[in-house]
Amino acid sequence: MPDLIQRIQRAVDVLKAGGLVGMPTETVYGLAADANNVSAINKIFSSKGRPSGHPLIVHIAQAEPNVADDHQASAIAWREILSQWSRDVSPEALILANKFWPGPLTMILPKAKNVLSEVTGGQETVGVRCPQHPMAQQLLKAFGGGLAAPSANRFGRISPTTAEHVREEFPGNEVLVIDGGPCDVGIESTIVDLTRLDTHGAVILRPGAINQVMIDQALTTSDQGGGKLLSMAQKGNEAVPRVSGSLSAHYAPKTKLLIYDSKDAKPIFSEANEVAGFKQVAWVHFPQAQLDKQNDKVLGLKNVVKELLLPLEPKSLARELYALLRQLDALNVDCIFFEQLPGGIEWDAIRDRLGRASVGSGV
Ligand code: TXA
Ligand code: MG
Repeated sequence: MPDLIQRIQRAVDVLKAGGLVGMPTETVYGLAADANNVSAINKIFSSKGRPSGHPLIVHIAQAEPNVADDHQASAIAWREILSQWSRDVSPEALILANKFWPGPLTMILPKAKNVLSEVTGGQETVGVRCPQHPMAQQLLKAFGGGLAAPSANRFGRISPTTAEHVREEFPGNEVLVIDGGPCDVGIESTIVDLTRLDTHGAVILRPGAINQVMIDQALTTSDQGGGKLLSMAQKGNEAVPRVSGSLSAHYAPKTKLLIYDSKDAKPIFSEANEVAGFKQVAWVHFPQAQLDKQNDKVLGLKNVVKELLLPLEPKSLARELYALLRQLDALNVDCIFFEQLPGGIEWDAIRDRLGRASVGSGV
């Protein structure tokens, strides 16, 4: 096994030659290509089976300010880097970059003229993210440019959170995978649209580990003229849907995934047992359901060949969710019964992914 520097250099060579690299990030693995190379970008679409016209996120290396730990110097450094991708870098973008990058946040910005339309899906905006995973940073620095990278899964399927998952998705040799271990966050970055600040504020298009409260707080407590944004961000919350432009079916296992509310477990389980004729099912639930079953409060689900307990902590479930769905899908059971997640903002992003996985499942 060559050492890390050699592995990174090999990946850089592949990228420079217009090839594809499986890149570890803290959210999910990305399928990376040179963001300035049209034929490399086209390879992403053909390998993933992704319809063209779906925009890609450009990943960038961390800013290196002249003065360490200086807010202003850091904002200047971010402005310089972001200007390569955006024609209008707002103070709000710099505030969020300073606060959350490197990290699981993608910003939608007005695109710079030179950004390829293959990357932006023909739109006037571009998604930019500075990932936190140290190997992603090493790769980006050594490459010396932006890397366009969607999640490294086939279109509509479960996002990969280990190098092994990426190899399962792309078993041929068209993708060089860098093994950076299991992803720490486990679900895709929050996407925040900053292109309509004047009318809508900062709008979350895809929920993730960084939630609306954290974003609003960063924008309103900043001393860089963020005060006016309080009303804007709130206005944005009301005026536009929090999740837009995403397909309702996504992240989906091939096995039917049924999300049930624990208070409806009795009729749902009894229908599964008596009517549906399932021969083998999997049951995924919080620990309380097990106690209820022992106390005979819920009717037991029959023909359970796999039972999994969910962690009570949302960060832990986010980290495990996609690996869990892959594991369950590989069982080839008739149906996966998955207990509904609790309410609350810290579960929003996971509930969003699970819901989409359910809509697209069993196809
Ligand atoms: O955590 C992540 O964001 C991962 C890792 C690899 O960085 N990437 C990822 O990429 O999830 P992908 O392509 O699977 O999802 C990107 C989403 C898509 O829904 C796309 O429509 C949206 O970002 N997006 C990208 N550029 C956009 C733009 N200019 N305007 C609106 N949405 C955009
Ligand atoms: Mg994806």
